[in-house]
Amino acid sequence: MRRKTILIIVFITSTALAGILLTQIYWVGTAFKLKEEQFDNSVRIALKSVINQFQQNKSDTVFQKRLIALSCRKTKLSIDDYIDEAILDSLIQDELKCMEINSMYRYGVYSKYNNRFVLGKFDEYRKELLDSPFQFSLASIYKPGDYYLSTFFTNKTHILLHRMELWLFLSILFLFILVISFASVIFTILHQKKVSEIKTDFINNMTHEFKTPIATSSLAAEMIQKKEVMANPSKLKKYSSIILDENNRLQNQVEQVLQVAILESGKYNFRVRRLNANELIKDVINSFELRIKDSNINVEINQDAAKPYFLGDKTHILNVFFNLIDNAIKYSPERPLISVCTYNVNDNIVISVKDNGIGISKEHQNNIFKNLFRVPTGNIHEVRGFGLGLYYVKTIVDQFGGKIQLVSEPGKGSNFKLFFPTTTTKN
Ligand SMILES: Nc1ncnc2c1ncn2[C@@H]1O[C@H](COP(=O)(O)OP(=O)(O)OP(=O)(O)O)[C@@H](O)[C@H]1O
Ligand SMILES: [Mg+2]
Repeated sequence: MRRKTILIIVFITSTALAGILLTQIYWVGTAFKLKEEQFDNSVRIALKSVINQFQQNKSDTVFQKRLIALSCRKTKLSIDDYIDEAILDSLIQDELKCMEINSMYRYGVYSKYNNRFVLGKFDEYRKELLDSPFQFSLASIYKPGDYYLSTFFTNKTHILLHRMELWLFLSILFLFILVISFASVIFTILHQKKVSEIKTDFINNMTHEFKTPIATSSLAAEMIQKKEVMANPSKLKKYSSIILDENNRLQNQVEQVLQVAILESGKYNFRVRRLNANELIKDVINSFELRIKDSNINVEINQDAAKPYFLGDKTHILNVFFNLIDNAIKYSPERPLISVCTYNVNDNIVISVKDNGIGISKEHQNNIFKNLFRVPTGNIHEVRGFGLGLYYVKTIVDQFGGKIQLVSEPGKGSNFKLFFPTTTTKN
């Protein structure tokens, strides 16, 4: 898929997702408002009913007689002569219960004239009660009509959210699933695209790497077939050794690809032995001898490890060291100075391969151990390779309980340190 197509798909899907998100938020908000209206209406009905009951009670003959008796004793009747606090309390409680409102509430009867509370359960909620939308005039029960019954619900929002609990939970859950799935689909698409780019790069690279030795050896074979070359043993030797060299090079490359393919498939059998890091380093450096002499490379060896033994598979560990030294040479274009050291830190043997080459920037340091990854240098790679070496190194080092540490700075060089736990076993 082309980058532009992916971007368009991501844009359209993100917009659609944002749309769904906003619509959902809108619907949840609307549902909340409806629930609130429903709640408010229920409260109004309940409080109206309380006031109605007091009104009916007022025309009751027993109540009338009580009022007449009271007015003989008092010069002026007050509101608490008309409204009994205990009755008001139980009526409000019953009516709210009847409307299925279980919220915590405060109520109070106060005079609008001077905002003075005369009865009720209001604690520290006077201000809230004065501002409450649930205020009902008590003029029909007691004149002068500046007395009001006010109610305030302390946990109204909580109660409303509780009533919507299931829908809220389902909305959030499904939205969350949608966002996560969307992110993972996008991530997979981008990852697949990157993998396919890397694979195409690898195939191009491999074709080029294989083409060069095949072309060189077929040219040398053509030369051998010429009569004058056949008659000249030194030329014959020269061309046949070219064919042999190129053949070896091809074999090594195929071997390298196969090794990684086997590691990837997981079908490998390691022959774990006690290995001596000092000896293995010497063997590997020896195999580089010709290349070192030819190209003016300086190799410094320091074998300070007093306890050089660790457990591993000899062939693979040799390949690991080979890859690190090969990289150190390959990526040091001017007068390579390679320093290979072994030493002990705590119970570990450390093998360090240091060069004064091009170095690796911080952003690529984590990626270089990934399969087929090569530090991008535009389309032209001056140094040939498959990007398999360090992936192989990491896989093998992990396999034998080791660790890799990389210290590198662009333009200054790199230092790859391998840590393996030392062993005291005899073989
Ligand atoms: N010593 C080093 N100095 C600078 N860059 C390095 C060094 N070692 C590795 N790299 C960078 O890390 C990348 C990955 O290295 P790796 O050994 O896996 O692959 P390669 O050398 O490109 O190919 P090959 O599969 O032939 O080893 C290299 O392409 C290079 O860009
Ligand atoms: Mg390499």
